[in-house]
Amino acid sequence: MSLLEVEGTVAAYGSIRATHGVSFSVEENEIIALVGSNGAGKSSTLKAIMGLVRLAEGSIRIDGDSVSGERPYRVVRRGVAFSPEGRRVFAATSVLENLMAGAHILPRGRAHERLDQIFSYFPRLRERSHQLAGNLSGGEQQMLAIGRALMSRPRLLLLDEPSLGLAPVIVQRIGELICEIQASENLAVVLAEQNSNWALRLATRGLVLEVGRIRMQDSAGELLRSDYVRRAYLGM
Ligand SMILES: Nc1ncnc2c1ncn2[C@@H]1O[C@H](COP(=O)(O)OP(=O)(O)OP(=O)(O)O)[C@@H](O)[C@H]1O
Ligand SMILES: [Mg+2]
Repeated sequence: MSLLEVEGTVAAYGSIRATHGVSFSVEENEIIALVGSNGAGKSSTLKAIMGLVRLAEGSIRIDGDSVSGERPYRVVRRGVAFSPEGRRVFAATSVLENLMAGAHILPRGRAHERLDQIFSYFPRLRERSHQLAGNLSGGEQQMLAIGRALMSRPRLLLLDEPSLGLAPVIVQRIGELICEIQASENLAVVLAEQNSNWALRLATRGLVLEVGRIRMQDSAGELLRSDYVRRAYLGM
């Protein structure tokens, strides 16, 4: 049984179908890159898992139990956390409050312990804990978004475009942090990215999504070597 099983999912916005039968599974402790161009359906797939868009067809299971059509907080309780595209931090509240907002499923004492752990991964957030999130740099806001998602102690972390709009040196740092946190918490990570090269280098496996369907799935190494992926996604 896999940690996450996504089977034949169709994510829909009203009558608009954003994906057309997406199936894949995620095992414990692996990093999966979900790559594809604008509008391929990466975000819609992650949001369908979280219960943030309507699942018109298909099923989503965690440890074999269906969470299809469940509300987001119930999916979080099952051990899944989501860091949305564009970071979406609460700009007018402090770094600390942003992080605590990610901990609502933990008992209070546990939330403070967890906060300490998150600060150990992101020391910049500790230094800036009383500043408004909106005053952080783009890279710091991305760290905050990831830290907030991690507050719930997920087993599976869904990251939507964490590299978006950041300078290469910051992207590299965020990649190192993702790997470090993944290893120390035995996390499974799904990394939805347009930056295919970066994502596939961090990942063990990769999925290529095109117009709402999975076109290829393989080990990240194979995808990086594939002529098709090199031409279509790596600009080679
Ligand atoms: N709120 C929405 N209402 C209607 N259609 C939407 C909505 N959000 C996304 N879509 C459509 O769903 C399809 C998939 O979009 P999605 O945002 O999942 O792609 P993506 O792979 O995340 O793209 P990007 O790399 O640009 O973030 C697109 O055709 C898009 O227009
Ligand atoms: Mg997207």
